[in-house]
Amino acid sequence: MSDNPIVIVGAGQAGLQLADSLRRGGYDGKLLLVGEESSLPYQRPPLSKQYLAGDMADERLLFRPQEFYAKKNIDVIVGAVVRDIKPSKKTVTIGEETIEYSQLALTTGAAVRRLPVAGADGDGVFYLRSLEDAQKIKERLSSGSCRVVAVGGGFIGLEIAAAARELGQAVTVVEAQERLMARVVAPQVSDYYLNLHTSHGVDVRLNAGVREIERTSDQDMSVVLDDDRRIATDIVVVGIGSIPRTELAEAAGLACDNGIVVNEYAQTSDPSIVAAGDCTMHRNVRNDASLRLESVQNAVDQSKIAAANLLGERKPYDQVPWFWSDQFEAKLQMVGTSAGHDRTVLRGSLEDHAFSNFYFRNEQLIGVDSVNRPADHIVSRKLIAAGVAVPESIVVDVAANLKSLL
Ligand code: APR
Repeated sequence: MSDNPIVIVGAGQAGLQLADSLRRGGYDGKLLLVGEESSLPYQRPPLSKQYLAGDMADERLLFRPQEFYAKKNIDVIVGAVVRDIKPSKKTVTIGEETIEYSQLALTTGAAVRRLPVAGADGDGVFYLRSLEDAQKIKERLSSGSCRVVAVGGGFIGLEIAAAARELGQAVTVVEAQERLMARVVAPQVSDYYLNLHTSHGVDVRLNAGVREIERTSDQDMSVVLDDDRRIATDIVVVGIGSIPRTELAEAAGLACDNGIVVNEYAQTSDPSIVAAGDCTMHRNVRNDASLRLESVQNAVDQSKIAAANLLGERKPYDQVPWFWSDQFEAKLQMVGTSAGHDRTVLRGSLEDHAFSNFYFRNEQLIGVDSVNRPADHIVSRKLIAAGVAVPESIVVDVAANLKSLL
């Protein structure tokens, strides 16, 4: 075995999972996990939810304490930027130091998409991806009255809107498309969320493009919409999607196409390099398409595949994707996909804020969006994975046990 370490670039959820899976899989050689953020790996999902609302302390965000890394003999370097990778020499340059690796894993994640309008780089405009970003927003939201405009009615914009409203702030959401969360949920669910936010006092503007962030004085800031309307605000939080971090991989000559291209074994175009998580455009043997997923599920499951690959085991990626989002009292859990459905069946009731929307294509269940029905979500993961027939009569009958179909 080479005496050089396996190097994992990117110390987020995927990087930590990969390191842990390598140890659990029996790898006992050197292992180096490098991350550019100053914190040990931490959970990102709460940043726009409980953390922002003040319901979760910083320490609780860490996945593992420092001792875990010592115990597992994982060298973890935080606050360090990997500047260069040379696959032909099997080297990485971390800061000023170049070291040789035996095998390499890229878990570089994603960066926020910036709002490309005048004024968007000035004071009072925030993005949310890192703990440091969240700390800055939290400070503004929790120190007195603060008007908020959330640009983007996707997961991030809406979660921030809910957290800010719960802290008593006046909130406007500006969404370019005709409905909320259009990338991930079907129209019925978008409508439910529009009502939910509106009923909590959020001013939601749909079909609204931002032309400029205007500052007339140090204190006065307005978001100017395409139709000239102005929304006066104290802060703007932008959540208009994310971009995979492929710059290192591209410079190293690895194939990239809206993500680092990996096969179903998490292998990049260089067989000695794997990649996993938000940064990848990957194959899933369950469907015949390439996918880029930004989710905890993908970070965890794909990293396990990548670790197995580095250990010489080829396990194909075939997981059913799932996601969640917490906004006000509604816990949204999604599994599979609603894209391409030709029929939907509702279980439960929108009025009671407890329902699941089942999506079918050619009579096959392809996705389920659940709101406050966690048991439906859990069993739906299994139903979709098993590919069993799911009769409408059972779906609509909330007294019927979905598990009986397995
Ligand atoms: N003005 C207003 N809205 C815009 C603009 C714009 N210029 N550009 C895009 N949008 C809208 C999109 O129509 C979409 O509804 O912003 C929304 C972005 O939503 P997502 O794609 O869900 O992205 P975001 O909310 O930023 O979340 C990014 O971070 O935590 C993860 O899981 C989360 O995968 C998600 C990622």
